[in-house]
Amino acid sequence: MSKTEAGIAGLQTASLGDGIVGRINELAAISESPGHLTRIFLTEQHRAAAELILRWMRDAGMRAHLDAIGNVCGRYEGERPGLPCLMLGSHYDTVRDAGKWDGPLGLVTAIACVGDLNGRGKRLPFAIEVTGFADEEGIRFASTLLGSRAVAGTFDESVLGTKDRAGTSMRDALTTFGLDPEHIGAAARARRELHAYLELHIEQGPVLEQENLPVGVVTAISGATRLAVSMTGMAGHAGTVPMALRRDALAGAAECIVAIEEFCRTDRGGLVGTVGYINAMPGATNVIPGQVSFTIDMRAASDAHRKMAVADVVRRIEKIAKRRELALQIDVTHENRTVPCAPWLKAQVAEAIAAEGFRAFELPSGAGHDGMAMIDIADVAMVFVRCRGGISHHPDEYVESADADVGARVLLRVIENFRPRDKVG
Ligand code: GLV
Ligand code: MN
Ligand code: MN
Repeated sequence: MSKTEAGIAGLQTASLGDGIVGRINELAAISESPGHLTRIFLTEQHRAAAELILRWMRDAGMRAHLDAIGNVCGRYEGERPGLPCLMLGSHYDTVRDAGKWDGPLGLVTAIACVGDLNGRGKRLPFAIEVTGFADEEGIRFASTLLGSRAVAGTFDESVLGTKDRAGTSMRDALTTFGLDPEHIGAAARARRELHAYLELHIEQGPVLEQENLPVGVVTAISGATRLAVSMTGMAGHAGTVPMALRRDALAGAAECIVAIEEFCRTDRGGLVGTVGYINAMPGATNVIPGQVSFTIDMRAASDAHRKMAVADVVRRIEKIAKRRELALQIDVTHENRTVPCAPWLKAQVAEAIAAEGFRAFELPSGAGHDGMAMIDIADVAMVFVRCRGGISHHPDEYVESADADVGARVLLRVIENFRPRDKVG
């Protein structure tokens, strides 16, 4: 048995952390480009990762299958078959040039915990399900949380016509992958099937490191709005059109980007705004850019504040477009409200952290998570695991094996001591 397998085999034997790190590294090797981790929805890397995770789930004693949207779903029965489950999970898609922990940490840890129970032959008065969500980041089709929305039964079928940057529609990508776009509804689960949804995730920020703590209890997941902006001016010759006569779409977009940065920077309510993607057409050195598309991602501590800020940013962009005589289209591609974690579940996470000998420190999540969709069918809670330097969505993302181990111990404790909502006072 390899060291990795020994680590995964059980808490009784060795640190779960080493086994988890081994599997994180195995998954990180499945990437579109070697050395730059990129694993996108409905690609051959999605398929390879899904097969590996299905195998791990089966090795951990679960029945496992790929659902109608490409999520990996594992089920470990309770004391008798068919009981409602505690659902654990996280996503296994990545951003471009990603870190290897965002998503996979929660998934691999959940499988390790089930493997540990299975190794001891332990069954609980409820089932455990582990879901690896196929698309949380929303990199390919602009809509995020596609996997968890399908499970929550809130998948919006109108996004099936959305095209990726290569012009392939989501409908066609699903069909090529071997999934039936007409049957996404089959992935939906009912509220009565779930006691709760619990996700462990890398913190992706610097707070736990500052507090000198390996884990924390999440209070709420901040809402977010994503916009797709298109500005159209007039392409032309870079040598012949005088500056005063230009309608340069890229210069207009640049002014918008700086305005967004300025607006968010001077805000006092924790507002953050990011333009993470831009494309200028026709894209030649000696041609004035005639058309530009860019994205905006905006988040704030409260929904009301975010909504006001988005409206303000839209007004600023409209003003810039008008002054520069650029045609403008702004579409909302994603909107999620802030999701509070359930107090009765947070209390069980806090209890487990305290039992492991740590202060149960509470912190909010600025990043989005699958719980934002799962809230529609279950109460949600999250455990955060410390990362180094607060770095995430970057190849330098890093979690210590010892912290991954504490996270796994906390999760296992929560599972073994879990009381459904109707059993807590
Ligand atoms: C997901 O990582 C997000 O917060 O955008
Ligand atoms: Mn992410
Ligand atoms: Mn994530």
